[in-house]
Formats: sequence, C-alpha cells, structure tokens
Amino acid sequence: MPKQHALFGRPIRLAPRRVSFLLFSLGLFALFTLFFTLPSAIPTGPSLSKSIADGKASIPKLKNPFSSSILNPFRPVVHPPAIQKNSTYGGSSWSTHWTWLSPFSSSVTLDENRSLLPPLKERPPIYCYYDTSAQRDKATKDAESDLLLTWRRAWWAQGFRPIILSPAEAMSNPLYDELQRQEVETLFKTDMMRWLAWENMGGGLLAHNLLFPMAAHEDPLLSFLRRGEYPGLIRWEGLDDGLFAGSKSEVTAAVMTALRSPEKRGAKSFIEAVPAETFAVDKTHDGVAFYNTKTVEKLYSQVADAIGTNRAAGTSSLNTLVNSHLHVTWQDLFTRGIAVLKPLPTHTTFMIEPALKLATWLSMCPDTPMPSSCPPNNPKCSPCVASHPMKISTPARYQNTTGLYTIGTVPHPYTRGTLNSLKDTIDVPWIRRDMTRDLWLAELTKELLGTGLSASARILTFKEAVAGEYATSHSVWFTAERDEPPHDLDWYFGFRIPVNATDGKSETPVPGPERRPKPEHDPKDGPIPKDDEFAREPELLKRAKDVGKSKLEKDVKVREAIEAWNLADTEAWRFARAFLARARVERLKWEEEESKYAGGAGHDKEKKRSAWGRWGE
Ligand SMILES: *[C@@H]1O[C@H](CO)[C@@H](O)[C@H](O)[C@H]1NC(C)=O
Ligand SMILES: *[C@@H]1O[C@H](CO)[C@@H](O)[C@H](O)[C@H]1NC(C)=O
Ligand SMILES: *[C@@H]1O[C@H](CO)[C@@H](O)[C@H](O)[C@H]1NC(C)=O
Ligand SMILES: *[C@@H]1O[C@H](CO)[C@@H](O)[C@H](O)[C@H]1NC(C)=O
Repeated sequence: MPKQHALFGRPIRLAPRRVSFLLFSLGLFALFTLFFTLPSAIPTGPSLSKSIADGKASIPKLKNPFSSSILNPFRPVVHPPAIQKNSTYGGSSWSTHWTWLSPFSSSVTLDENRSLLPPLKERPPIYCYYDTSAQRDKATKDAESDLLLTWRRAWWAQGFRPIILSPAEAMSNPLYDELQRQEVETLFKTDMMRWLAWENMGGGLLAHNLLFPMAAHEDPLLSFLRRGEYPGLIRWEGLDDGLFAGSKSEVTAAVMTALRSPEKRGAKSFIEAVPAETFAVDKTHDGVAFYNTKTVEKLYSQVADAIGTNRAAGTSSLNTLVNSHLHVTWQDLFTRGIAVLKPLPTHTTFMIEPALKLATWLSMCPDTPMPSSCPPNNPKCSPCVASHPMKISTPARYQNTTGLYTIGTVPHPYTRGTLNSLKDTIDVPWIRRDMTRDLWLAELTKELLGTGLSASARILTFKEAVAGEYATSHSVWFTAERDEPPHDLDWYFGFRIPVNATDGKSETPVPGPERRPKPEHDPKDGPIPKDDEFAREPELLKRAKDVGKSKLEKDVKVREAIEAWNLADTEAWRFARAFLARARVERLKWEEEESKYAGGAGHDKEKKRSAWGRWGE
C-alpha cells in the first residue's frame, strides 16, 4: 500500500513526480525570497549603476539599502508614521521613537529627509514663586527679571521645566479665601501664598528663585530631582526654604495643617507653622547652590553691600556673580579641556572656526564682581584664572574621555568633498571615481572603533555620541554650513556664554576669523594646510553652502549623487542638524506656552517682558 500523506488532516496521495515538483517550487521560492530581500539585510553602501549613458555614470536614486526594499515583493505596504507636531525647523525634520538607535532613520520614518531622534526626556517641572504685586522701581524689576532668566536657564539646561508662579496661581487656589480671612503674620502670609501657588500646580518641586543647580548633570541630587518621584514631603537641611519636593497629596496635607494648626499664630514661615515631622529632612545637597541673604552676606560681602546701597545695581551684581559661578562650575568639570574635532585636518581649519570660536568663549573667564570666589556649595572650586585658560585642542578623532568636552562640526558630504579635495566644482564622475565613501565618519571614529568596521556600525556610535544620555552634557554638535555657532547655546549650557567678553582686565574683543592667527596645532592631530591652501578654504566653504541651498537642477543632481554615495556621512549630518533643531523647538514651544502666564493677570505687555526677562532670541 502506498504511503499516505496528510495535509490539514486529509489524506492526500502524491506521486513521486509531484513530490519533486513541490520541492523544486519550494526551492525556487526560497531562492527568490533570498535574492530580493537580501539588499535590505547586508549593511553596505549602494552599488553604483554600471550603466553609463553619454559618458556620465548615473547614480541610482536609492533611498538607502536598509529600508524595506521596494524590490521585495513580500514587503508589506506600510504607511509612514504620523508626522509628529512641531517636528520641522530650519530645513530639518524629525520623528521621535525609542528605536532611534538604528543606523538609518529612513528605514523607520520612510522619508529620506526625516531623521529619527530619541524621545525627548520628560522634564519635571520646578516652580519658583515671584511676587509680581510687590512695589519695585523699573531698574530693580529689570535686574530681578535678569536674575529670573538666569534661574530658568540654569534649570532648563539641567533637564527641568522651570516655571515661575505668581500670586495669580495662589489666588486661584480654593484655600486662598481661607488664608485671607485669618489673622496671621505678614511674613507667614507671603510664605503661604507661595505654598498655595505650588499646591495649585499639583506639587512637584518648589525652589527659591535664588537656588541654582550647580553641579554635573550626573550629580546624585539633580538625578534624584529629575526622576520626578518623591517619597514623602522633603526638605533639605540648611537650605531653609530653598527647596521642597513632594507629591500633590502630601503638599495639600501640609498646607491644610499650616492653615488650620494652632501653632501658626506666631509663626513667621511655613516651616515653623507645621509640626517638624511633616517633612523628611535630607542632609546632602551638594548639587545646588543657594544665594539667600544669609549666604550672600557671609560669603560675598561686596555684593551684599552693593544690594544694601542700591538694590537694582546690587541685584545685577548678584546675577553676574551667579552666572560666573555656573560657568566656573562647568569649567571645573572639564579638566582636560575642550576638544574641537577636526577629522580631516588638512583642509578644514576654516570650517571649524565657529566651533573654535565657541570653545574660546567657553574657556574664557566670565565677567564677575568677585573674580576668585567660589559657589557656596563648592568652596574648594578652582576659580577661572585668565593666565591659565581651559585647554583647547583640535584632535582628529572623537574620544570618549571623562573630563573632555567635545564640540563637533559635521560637514555635509558635499562640503567635505569640496574642501578635502580643494575642488570648487564637483561632478558625478569625480564622485564615482575619486571620492572615498563616508570618509568623515570613518576618520572620526577611528580611535574608538578602529578600522575595518562597516559604516552602519560607526553611525550608531556617532548617534550615541550626539544624542545619548551621557553625550548631551559632554558634547555639542552642529553642522559645518553655518557662519556662527548657534546663538541660543546659553540654554544648552545653562549660563550666559561670554560672547565678546573681556578677561576682566583687557578690553580687546575676540578677533574675527580673518584676523585670528591659525590656532596652535599639535602635530599629532594631523597635517596643517599650506598658507595658499588655507587661503582658499573660505571661498570653497562658501561654494559648498551655496550648493546646499541651490535649487538649480545641476546642483541638486550632484548633491543627490553625493548623498547617495555617502549614506552614512549624510545620515550623520542630518541627524546632528535635526537634534539641535529639535532642542531649539522644544525650548521655543515651552516659551510660547509659558509666556501666556507671565506676570499673572492684569499686567501689560511691557511688565510681562520685564517679569520674565529677555527670552533668549
Ligand atoms: C527631501 O529633500 C529634497 C531636497 O530638499 C527634496 O528634493 C526631496 O523631495 C525630499 N524628499 C522627501 C521624501 O520629502
Ligand atoms: C561614553 O562613555 C560613557 C560612560 O563612560 C558611556 O555611557 C557612553 O555610552 C559612551 N559613549 C560612546 C559614544 O561610546
Ligand atoms: C561681538 O563683536 C563683533 C565685532 O567686534 C560684533 O559685530 C558683534 O555684534 C558682537 N556680538 C555681540 C553679541 O555683542
Ligand atoms: C508648533 O506648532 C503650532 C501649530 O501646529 C504653531 O502654531 C507653533 O508656532 C509651533 N511652535 C514652534 C515653536 O514651532
């Protein structure tokens, strides 16, 4: 009896000829699948079409080989992900997804121009209370508004969402009427307003507007505060009313106790009015610096005297002091100095000028009323000394070293091509014959990854170095096609970068690129240009910028060809550009939302501006 085969439980009879036909078909199917899906599995660059029409090679308009290949007939048809709100800025666009660490964004965004960025980190709100109803003259108001700006900038840079509350928030608390009806000390009432405003916002963090984060991003206290979850109502020993943390229910309970407890009759502050066990008291607070009157009088008598003589001028002086401490704290973190990356050293001296300029500003001593002073939370700091500025180097390779701040300049492959070859016109045959693929990225990561790795492995490291958790506080990257460093980096660093600052003694401004001597160069970092070649760099860079913006068919074609030839370098360039653009949009959106509330109700525009300080333009 012939053997019975079964399919779906039903017996079928297969003749030997049919079996071999079935096997043959299966084999064909497997081969077919393998053949057509392979291009999306092997991480290599695209191969150039060999078809050469009228002397010119045509470069296939391949998006990239990693995207679900269009040739793959079994590829499910996918909709591109929904475009997220506010995800375009200055020619950049992006999407956000937790799978961001993939070599090529377009395999997820399905749009060659849309970069895939890591999700934005949740910023826990930190509130401070500013009494806009108190009487002040204009100069004092302006000085205080500048100080509030410093406060907001410092907390923003550390990953928080700083929000300034006003009596308006306190008055919309249902408990406000109860407070109004009571006979209490004025000081207590003022303090209570602050708590009512905070309670109305639903708890979280309440800081004094003279309390600043002054430590590394990784500082334990700052990390704890950033987590946004607080066990119990916490205050910090020795910080008085500088900082509180707690969830809404705990804050509400404490406010009720303070309003209804008998102890409050003589109390002058919230802390006095509630039983001691209301708070869990934490002892360590090295990460924050508090410039309350007590501290300023003790440590910075010069500033305290200035405040005593003229409130506006004194407050302004305090603002300068705080800003200088924030800057010095940053400088102290980077003991090995600043690395301005220069992966193809021969002809990129002019290209990295903006990065070098930024490094110079960062390394300078900030303006300060008390040059050798230290922040109150770190009396053993090393103050900035003009004769020993931070070290600036221009290494060719990216190094992930503690204590080294990295400023990266990412060129578009066209820019890199034109500068590196000193060619002012690039055409498709040249790209095909002479351009080394993804050279910039390969050079950049040579020390970290060695040679012989694929571009897709390098791009992952690059993305980690730009946008990783650790990276954002240790580096900043921008594209090479800009004349100046981005102008809102103050918000990235958390202090006012001394543009055109003096070192406290001489009044000479930083010379512009045309007058600046070529920077000191460590021979280890690679060759430097000959003078005549150096002289050509500005014009070549300008040409590259023009091509980048050009709509001429010829330029667009070359640009597309060069992007297709250098997929990884292009991906890096888009990624760095989108990452910085998104950081700006995040801040602009927050400012847009917050400006509605500025100064509370009943304030005219001018007052609003002054209560909120200058928005970083
Ligand atoms: C990407 O940008 C280029 C040039 O800006 C444009 O020609 C192209 O159509 C864009 N692609 C998509 C999918 O939007
Ligand atoms: C750099 O080093 C830090 C810690 O030492 C690590 O978390 C980070 O992932 C490293 N970055 C890269 C790009 O390797
Ligand atoms: C810095 O100085 C240059 C020229 O000395 C000037 O053009 C520029 O506007 C100044 N920048 C700022 C922010 O003051
Ligand atoms: C965000 O998008 C809204 C409309 O979608 C727009 O009105 C607003 O200006 C955008 N904000 C920024 C900062 O781009």
